[in-house]
Amino acid sequence: MEKNRSSFTGKLGFVLAAAGSAVGLGNIWRFPYLAAEYGGGMFLLVYLILAVTFGFTLMTAEIALGRKTGLSAIGAFRALDKKYSFIGYLAAIVPIIILPYYSVIGGWVLKYLAMFVSGNGIKTADGEGVFFTGFVGLVGEPILWFGIFILATTLIVLFGVEKGIEKASKVMMPILVVLTIGVAIYSIVIDIAEDGGAGLAYYLIPDFGKFSPMTVVAALGQLFYSMSLAMGIMITYGSYMKKDVSIEKSVHQIEIFDTGIAFLAGLMIIPAVVASADTASVGKGPGLMFIALPKVFESMPAGDIIGAVFFILVLFAALTSAISLAETIISILCDKLHIKRLYSILIVFVGCILLGLPSTLGFGVWGHIMPLGMDFLTFFDFISNSVIMPIVALLTCLFITFVIKTKTIEDEVELGGKFGSKTMFRVIIKYIAPVFLVIILVSSVINGLIDAGYITGKLAEFFAI
Ligand code: PHE
Repeated sequence: MEKNRSSFTGKLGFVLAAAGSAVGLGNIWRFPYLAAEYGGGMFLLVYLILAVTFGFTLMTAEIALGRKTGLSAIGAFRALDKKYSFIGYLAAIVPIIILPYYSVIGGWVLKYLAMFVSGNGIKTADGEGVFFTGFVGLVGEPILWFGIFILATTLIVLFGVEKGIEKASKVMMPILVVLTIGVAIYSIVIDIAEDGGAGLAYYLIPDFGKFSPMTVVAALGQLFYSMSLAMGIMITYGSYMKKDVSIEKSVHQIEIFDTGIAFLAGLMIIPAVVASADTASVGKGPGLMFIALPKVFESMPAGDIIGAVFFILVLFAALTSAISLAETIISILCDKLHIKRLYSILIVFVGCILLGLPSTLGFGVWGHIMPLGMDFLTFFDFISNSVIMPIVALLTCLFITFVIKTKTIEDEVELGGKFGSKTMFRVIIKYIAPVFLVIILVSSVINGLIDAGYITGKLAEFFAI
């Protein structure tokens, strides 16, 4: 499987494929709700700083690891030093946790798309989340939509038509950008007219009083998630990259694109919620996009059509990301269990349904089961983004610093041209990232214990947002 790797044709091919994996629900659904919850402008600032430092460094490292070895995560670590292939295994767990709940949200997108296409979009626009909560609280219907999403993902992979989807998304993505800008401008205008720009100010102006260790934990988790880092995906993508392509430039492009879409999604959603409610109730959690956007579309001219188009585009973005998650799991299953691709695909399908069930039922009949005080979906999201991914990132940094040395990565990057940010890269990988990631991990765990009620008092207050 690992032999005969085809290469991406040229530089654009790589950037587009990686961007297809990176841009997804993470940008449009996850980023705005975290930004709303963790202090608006403060979260945005922390995120941007992390993106140009940590995001850049880790993505460069992962792509270089993949390109150097020509292998995906498990193989790449093993090829460089046999003892460390466990890092690859750990990374491989992440997509297995993410894909099921990602598909649950993909199902929500499908439901909203169906509502808008059938001219019922207005019913979803109560602004209070009555429709949303009612829908996710059901048993059968959300499972049905979630099943359709995962079925579509696996069928695309089964029939090998990913390329078709990726081609289509090359057309869809630019339209998504344009539409998002349009809706964002509309949201801002309404916010300024009705609320004196309170929503915009909340999103753009950092309020240092809103800073807590959890702002950094959440922003870093979001960064990994959004840029598809710390889960082996970029290593695999790197393995397909040609040697003469500049890794540094490609990373910058992916980063700008990915962060740009997340930023725009925030502009579109956050002013809308702040304008329609007060700042205190801004944090509506995972339902934020599904509550805020219909409200915006409702007040827009031709909102039903715009809403329908918007949800189609989001669906495409979600599908390309889900495909890259599914492909990663499938290739691991094929390699490790030595089974046919068809069986791997079947396992992914059935496994996803089973693992996704708690996430969807957690908003309804299983709502009383709250691991670490969270609903199941948030719990899986937390475990992957705030616990396993920081561990993988930490191990990757340590591996590069102590086992293969930063020079190995730097040389690989320099094959494609000058490595302008070499010094920053080295300092972050060797010194800043390890210390910082340990702090993040400890904070995550403490926060989990606070949520579960094991820690109270001063420490709990310090961690509160
Ligand atoms: N980065 C994707 C998003 O933002 C999610 C994803 C994570 C995709 C991991 C692939 C792998 O939605």
